[in-house]
Amino acid sequence: TRKIIIDTDPGQDDAVAILLALASPELEVLGITCVAGNVPLALTSLNARKVCELAGRPDMRVFAGCDRPMARMLVTAENVHGKSGLDGIELPEPAMALQDQHAVDFLIETLREAPAGTVTLCPLGPLTNIATAFERAPDIKDRVAEIVLMGGAYFEVGNTTPAAEFNIHVDPQAADIVFKSGVPIVVMPLDVTHKALTSRARVEAFRAMGTQVGHAVASWTDFFERFDMAKYGSEGAPLHDPCVIAYLLAPDLFTGRHINVEIETQSELTMGMTVADWWRVTDRAPNALFIGDIDAAGFYALLVERIGRL
Ligand code: BDR
Ligand code: CA
Repeated sequence: TRKIIIDTDPGQDDAVAILLALASPELEVLGITCVAGNVPLALTSLNARKVCELAGRPDMRVFAGCDRPMARMLVTAENVHGKSGLDGIELPEPAMALQDQHAVDFLIETLREAPAGTVTLCPLGPLTNIATAFERAPDIKDRVAEIVLMGGAYFEVGNTTPAAEFNIHVDPQAADIVFKSGVPIVVMPLDVTHKALTSRARVEAFRAMGTQVGHAVASWTDFFERFDMAKYGSEGAPLHDPCVIAYLLAPDLFTGRHINVEIETQSELTMGMTVADWWRVTDRAPNALFIGDIDAAGFYALLVERIGRL
């Protein structure tokens, strides 16, 4: 099994990613660290616990982390995710408590204690927790096996500003630190997630499971569908964050290129843009595997098979 830490701001698509991980015996989730992003920290850390209980995993450790970006004001996305961050279905208040430890301390401690190269980080939101941990404890960078993250865009450019994707735009300074860290990085940009669209049939496949979890996933993906019809030229909406977990389970569903990616942190106009050297027009060293394509049918087959186990 592969040890992972999920760093997240749930978020319906974050929630599906968490469920996919918890349903998969190949992965050992050491903990879930929450960050401010789609909604404020108090809600993301509440939502993560709701999702764990929905999955029948009240034993999972959930940590609250940074409540704002490193250098900028927090920008949230209630317009996409609803007021709760998890609109679409009402889940019960969780009985499980948040861990007392700060998410950043948990990240540092876990990476120092585990054998080097054995823990993979899976950021599904702004990179504030990860970058803060790297700044505070630079020794842990060498100990991370890999970072597989959802964020950025190349051909699909922005979903938050014309130039930037939400997760990177919210905390560009943190993203800059992570992309310069030297840790092996795999990036799931909008170019990929906009090919992983839900459809009526795909949503119904979750509902047809007849389980609580299947019902929740169908309700969440239904909520997403409300507003994206015109945008993607199909009836569906992207299920961004589960692509990260799917990559760990079935990397053959994805193809990409080892390229250089720099983060725009200077210009307001293009703040948070992932300047991805897809055509290798510079001599800047590659620092990330930037994914460009996905087998969407295979991805949904995997999702349905795994979510059906819960
Ligand atoms: C990313 O932003 C959030 O709204 C989603 O959860 C996803 O992580 C997509 O841009
Ligand atoms: Ca997210």
